[in-house]
Amino acid sequence: MSERDASRSPLIRDISDTARWAAWCRAVESERPDALFRDSLAKRLAGERGPAIEEAMNKGRGSTVSSLVVRTVAFDKLIMNRLAEGGIDTVVNLAAGLDTRPYRLALPANLRWVEVDLPDLIAYKDDCLADEQAACQVERVALDLAQAEARRRLLASMGGQAGGALVLTEGLVLYLDSEVVTDMAKDLANVPAFRTWLMDLLHPGLLPFVVQSWNTQEAGSANVPKFAPEGGATYFQQFGWTSRDCISAWEEGERLNRLVGPPRAALSDTQIEAFRVMNTYVRLDRAAT
Ligand SMILES: C[S@@+](CC[C@H](N)C(=O)[O-])C[C@H]1O[C@@H](n2cnc3c(N)ncnc32)[C@H](O)[C@@H]1O
Repeated sequence: MSERDASRSPLIRDISDTARWAAWCRAVESERPDALFRDSLAKRLAGERGPAIEEAMNKGRGSTVSSLVVRTVAFDKLIMNRLAEGGIDTVVNLAAGLDTRPYRLALPANLRWVEVDLPDLIAYKDDCLADEQAACQVERVALDLAQAEARRRLLASMGGQAGGALVLTEGLVLYLDSEVVTDMAKDLANVPAFRTWLMDLLHPGLLPFVVQSWNTQEAGSANVPKFAPEGGATYFQQFGWTSRDCISAWEEGERLNRLVGPPRAALSDTQIEAFRVMNTYVRLDRAAT
């Protein structure tokens, strides 16, 4: 029995360690000769725990690298396309984790980019990136997004200062209680400056398999994914958000040559449809009033 088994402390000590895991996946991609992006800070940010989590979780559920890489590329595209449309002077990345887009993407120097995450994660990131120069104006806010009053105050303040804001929740909502996601959707809709919201969504049919494959001894039962709404992106319509773009992770994986499921040729039409919707990257726009 290893030292960690003996102490019974999971490798993923809390939800913020999933950010180290994600950073490690980006580091692995960055070292490929045919890398789809180069995140030169990812390895440093992942620390020792990032690769250890990937190695341990890989045993229970297969590698996470491809799906994380496909998500990163898809969000890069959704973000850059939205910025190119105009009307956005602020990006608010809720649960930014160890994402380094302000250091990696060709962003306008006057763009305000606000990263929100839990206090320990923010302190760690501030420390790791103290000497790095971002392409735009980066700020970090330490906040528990599940705390309704503090979240509303922050969103109202960000929105009040912005001409137009793009909000990101990448790798966040699946870990939240549905009441928190619902409240967040209403809070964002209540601040007119928030024009577009990008998120990833899990299909409810996939949730039990993800939960089952989640190796709880390594992951810690508190962190098991739980939010996967019926209707996918249309769930958010009732709160004032219209689905505009929807990218299938499985299709995008095929396109990018980073498979996140079986190859198309191995599947029946019914299976193709199931894989197409199992995990999606969604652009929601404020509904016209
Ligand atoms: C899977 S990571 C994703 C990080 C980043 N968006 C990315 O794609 O690499 C989940 C992130 O959500 C953050 N998080 C989870 N619950 C949170 C909460 N209640 N308040 C703020 N951040 C939270 C964690 O600290 C972690 O950084």
